[in-house]
Amino acid sequence: MATITVTAPAKINLHLEVLGQRPDGFHELAMVMQTIDLVDVLELSPTADASLELSCDQPELPTDGSNLIVKAGALLRERSGLPELGARMHLRKRIPIGAGLAGGSSNGGAALVGLNALWGLGHTPEALVAMAAELGSDMPFCLAGGCQLCFGRGEVLEPITASPPPSLGVLLVKHPQSSVSTPWAYGRCQALRSDRYLSSELEFEQRRTALRQGPLLEALSRGGQQTVAWPPLRNDLQLVVEPELPVVQQGLALLRQLPDALAVAMSGSGPSLYALFKDRQGAAQAEQVLADAFEQSGFDCWVCTTTSCGVSVVP
Ligand code: C5P
Repeated sequence: MATITVTAPAKINLHLEVLGQRPDGFHELAMVMQTIDLVDVLELSPTADASLELSCDQPELPTDGSNLIVKAGALLRERSGLPELGARMHLRKRIPIGAGLAGGSSNGGAALVGLNALWGLGHTPEALVAMAAELGSDMPFCLAGGCQLCFGRGEVLEPITASPPPSLGVLLVKHPQSSVSTPWAYGRCQALRSDRYLSSELEFEQRRTALRQGPLLEALSRGGQQTVAWPPLRNDLQLVVEPELPVVQQGLALLRQLPDALAVAMSGSGPSLYALFKDRQGAAQAEQVLADAFEQSGFDCWVCTTTSCGVSVVP
């Protein structure tokens, strides 16, 4: 029986700015998101019994209807008007869970792409993106991948038009016992920083323009020529999560010791943290420098590179 395999990459936030609160309760954001080569793998095969079965090699991940893979399958089936369709899906989980790396959103995107192909539905990429946006704010980005400006709830993508951003080295760290709930992080932001929230579309657009024309995009457009220092990276959720989580403070302090790091930040709502380097070798060397410190403090770490790939069917 035909099996389809889809890769689902993790993302990091190179910029996460909370602009304000929206009438729908979500936050209006201005972000730069970037996919990395840390991927989950989703294998899908058809079944004849109208079931959507999910299994995973990580027992702690829920595989019931709360998983975005199952939600994506149910939505796609409903929109296609073919309730008899079924699939068995197995997830090889490599992206840490509850880490601010959009692993769950990327998995949901992989289910949309994989099941569309498996069931021969023929939905256009645009139709899949629209379904993705209903399922999760980060999911449209996970389908597209690469390096993009993300506005609105995160679902409004704007490609970076300057020269393609370079393939940077990424040293990613996370403490295995620590995770952050995204609604909690946004709730803390609302409680502590809403006096700074902007309220008009004009002000939002001014901040978007500042990001488009600012030093981060300039650094990205410099390609591999990293002769000028990178600007500090902004993550407004880091400002509220870091004071609450000693493990985030400790991880950032370790990464900030690395002399060759271009920049250091938390990704998304955390608690994963990363340092950027001009190439993969730089990240690998940094990992060697900190290997003992990571072991002593119990951090997991990954040496990665930035990629231009979103969710992809394996040929
Ligand atoms: O869209 P997603 O399901 O990923 O969002 C999870 C939660 O994160 C939302 O329920 C909301 O509490 C918070 N969130 C937000 N503003 C955003 C994105 C997420 O407040 N732009």
